[in-house]
Amino acid sequence: MSKVFIDSLNRFSEADWLAAVGSLAGDIHEVDRAAVQVWFRFYPLDLVRYLESADDLEATMQGIVMQGDFGLLDKIDTSHAFLYGNRYWPQAKAEAIKRAESGEPAGDLAAEIRSLAKTVASDAKTKESLTLGIAAVALMTLVQTGIDEMKAASGMTSVPASEMNRSPDAIVAERAKDDSQGIFGFLRTVNKKFTVDYEAFGYDGSFTIIDNEEITSASQKDQSREWQAMDERCWNGPVPIECTSASCGTCWIGVIGGTEKLSEPERREKTRIKTFGYNQPDEKHPFLRLACQTKAHGNATIVIPPWNAVFGKKVRGNVEDVDLEPVTTSAKKLRETIADAVSGE
Ligand code: FES
Repeated sequence: MSKVFIDSLNRFSEADWLAAVGSLAGDIHEVDRAAVQVWFRFYPLDLVRYLESADDLEATMQGIVMQGDFGLLDKIDTSHAFLYGNRYWPQAKAEAIKRAESGEPAGDLAAEIRSLAKTVASDAKTKESLTLGIAAVALMTLVQTGIDEMKAASGMTSVPASEMNRSPDAIVAERAKDDSQGIFGFLRTVNKKFTVDYEAFGYDGSFTIIDNEEITSASQKDQSREWQAMDERCWNGPVPIECTSASCGTCWIGVIGGTEKLSEPERREKTRIKTFGYNQPDEKHPFLRLACQTKAHGNATIVIPPWNAVFGKKVRGNVEDVDLEPVTTSAKKLRETIADAVSGE
């Protein structure tokens, strides 16, 4: 089978992809504008290539303190469930495969994404603004997994009718709303309560947050489920944590609604997030955050990635050498000690 299309896409770096998606952002419906950019940060091409070139994958993953479930191979049909455009995945996947089989090389990256989005919109009888994001995801999934794996993937589970019937504008409006503070809420200056809606891989829900509280602190109060059964990094609440002090990188999240209602990142968060390797945009209210450094002043909608690592130095080469493992290890030790004490061992 001709690999011309995928080979030509392989010329592009992660920075090229982020630039292409960024250049299209203004034309992507608001419901998916941040979400698709978050998706590209959850599946960083530079890290995939770094791991692919490793002689000893396990040692390399240990070298970047990787935890959780990294990669797209086992998530071809599910990684994008938090995008509104997820409902157009069957068409996007089929058109991406068809494009790859055409044997024609890729031209300009943004133009390729736009062209695929146009065909998908026509197939699905919807607007291009709603298919641009999922088209970009389909092409990157093709690059990271290959055409045979894309074809062999089992296919997504159908989106419930109640979800299909929600309009993108209604979702945007709902995310923008804050919880009512009650009839005399306007008199309340402290202890206002808001909601954080979260979507993770395999579970979702919401928890209450007090005004000016860190997201991880609010998450830890949610004892409603056996979190570790869902993700072993979640030893206390739905958001994975270790250090709660911007030292380990476990708690990174994407924000797809209410970014402007979160505290601005301080210098420590900006520096550490670079060390970890996560690609936080240099903005006042970025859509990529460390939950333990982020306070809420209103409702927010977040997405929790299924993995974390410390790869800024080794993969991006843009940070000073730091040894973070002892911090992670000591947090783990503390956690184990507490668990042992609680269980009476
Ligand atoms: S929990 Fe370690 S960086 Fe937030």
